[in-house]
Amino acid sequence: MPSISKVAYTPKNSSFSSILLSSEQNLRPASTAPLKPTLILTPFHESHIQAAIYCAKKQGIQISVRSGGHDYEGLSYTSPSKHPFVIVDLRNLSSISIDTESSTAWIQGGATLGELYHKIAEKSKTLAFAAGVCPTVGVGGHFSGGGYGMMSRKFGLAVDHIIDAKIIDVNGRILDRQSMGEDLFWAIRGGGGGTFGIIIAWKVKLLPVPEIVTVFNLTKTLDQNATQLLLKWQYIADKIDPNLLIRPRITNVNSSQNGKITLQATFNSLFLGGVDELLSVMNRSFPELSLVKEDCTEMSWIESILFFAGFATSESVDVLLSRTPLGRVYFKGKSDFVKQPISENGLEGIWKRMLEEADGLIEMEFSPYGGRLSEISEYATPFPHRAGNIYMIHYAAAWNNSSEIEEKLTWIRRLYSYMASYVSSSPREAYVNYRDLDLGVNNDGNHPSYKVASIWGTKYFKNNFERLVHIKTEVDPSDFFRNEQSIPPFSS
Ligand code: FDA
Repeated sequence: MPSISKVAYTPKNSSFSSILLSSEQNLRPASTAPLKPTLILTPFHESHIQAAIYCAKKQGIQISVRSGGHDYEGLSYTSPSKHPFVIVDLRNLSSISIDTESSTAWIQGGATLGELYHKIAEKSKTLAFAAGVCPTVGVGGHFSGGGYGMMSRKFGLAVDHIIDAKIIDVNGRILDRQSMGEDLFWAIRGGGGGTFGIIIAWKVKLLPVPEIVTVFNLTKTLDQNATQLLLKWQYIADKIDPNLLIRPRITNVNSSQNGKITLQATFNSLFLGGVDELLSVMNRSFPELSLVKEDCTEMSWIESILFFAGFATSESVDVLLSRTPLGRVYFKGKSDFVKQPISENGLEGIWKRMLEEADGLIEMEFSPYGGRLSEISEYATPFPHRAGNIYMIHYAAAWNNSSEIEEKLTWIRRLYSYMASYVSSSPREAYVNYRDLDLGVNNDGNHPSYKVASIWGTKYFKNNFERLVHIKTEVDPSDFFRNEQSIPPFSS
């Protein structure tokens, strides 16, 4: 991670490239981007952002704001549409203050999830926050789009616990919940990053967790009955005790039996309680998985954060403070929502297509719904994927060579196309935080039209898209804050 001591970096500065790519987790967007930013700003103070907005408007340049830099299509640090842009990188605005008495936290917009989890654990053993698994994801983008994590069945999404925010609007004003009003406050909690202004801080309600939680990661290959287990999982995933979240990940591996490529399902699981209680829930609801005590580990909530991020639980929690992405690969992701269990035949058809592209990492992750996630109205926040969903699918392909981009994109698009009859339709829903430009792009990133944007907009936001457009029209009618998938105002 380069040291950041200045506020502005031009392409002539020797650390420009390293700063540009320092939070880049996905090598694909930058490798195909037609244009580099004119300037990277790393503000130390809110007034630097206000000045940036003022100058960018005057010069007719776009602003891309970056928090953790994990956007799947790189929209916080590239401009696929070739429009000149500056990056406002919030890494220096990342302080977090926790108030254990009121169980609340103020988090600056450039903080990462790892920094947030670390800070909470420093103050309390029984407070936590429900958000994503990867510690280097930024709160700026993540909270702007939803925020699903291992406690989402118990508590819902990150956005369900935001109680205040500070935003710098198109006129450079700093607004809090009261001064921005309830419409804008609603829109920024799930309407997607980069549309309504620059979030400089979020206030969240922290959540109570027991001192001991239990985790397990049980792996079964196709030879070990993975298909039958996933079939059954679909019938219990959203109904099981909300203290338990079982999130299967299906990936390609070499079979231990014959060395050929096969698939394995890893049942990543968190239970908010001790192992004995977990075993009794599992025996009642999912005995087919044959979970035993030896498969499980009791630990603190913060250790479970390390566990799901792939660290040894003996590792110092300080690893959560690193902003360096855990791995850098070429990557493409997509999402879907499942409302009816997929049949055995359907699952086998998926496996067939996954095995067609077995080199590189391919993955399907099934994130269960139900519990608190499904109790919250689909209109409460812009994130509309609530009751009626059994699980969300995350598709991913990751590879190491730029020469394979077209091949991998073709493969993942083919799998997505095969899945159409098994997932939500009219609209085919998608999760905005798993951003996917295949769903549609605003007029090459120039001022988008409502008609074009509604194609991808209704997939991400369903009926909430319309309200988002109304709010955008109110707060940013000239469409200053925009990107390839930002919400358009009506006039454009
Ligand atoms: P980044 O900085 O790239 O911003 C994303 C978008 O938000 C951009 O359009 C950007 O301009 C805008 N933005 C950023 N900061 C802003 C601010 N302060 N104000 C206004 N707009 C802002 N999701 C999930 O729900 N659960 C999970 O477990 C994971 N896990 C995960 C792992 C990995 C490795 C990756 C790469 C991604 C995830 N995600 C995820 C998806 C993640 O939630 C999504 O990519 C977020 O948008 C990333 O937020 P960042 O701030 O890191 O991205």
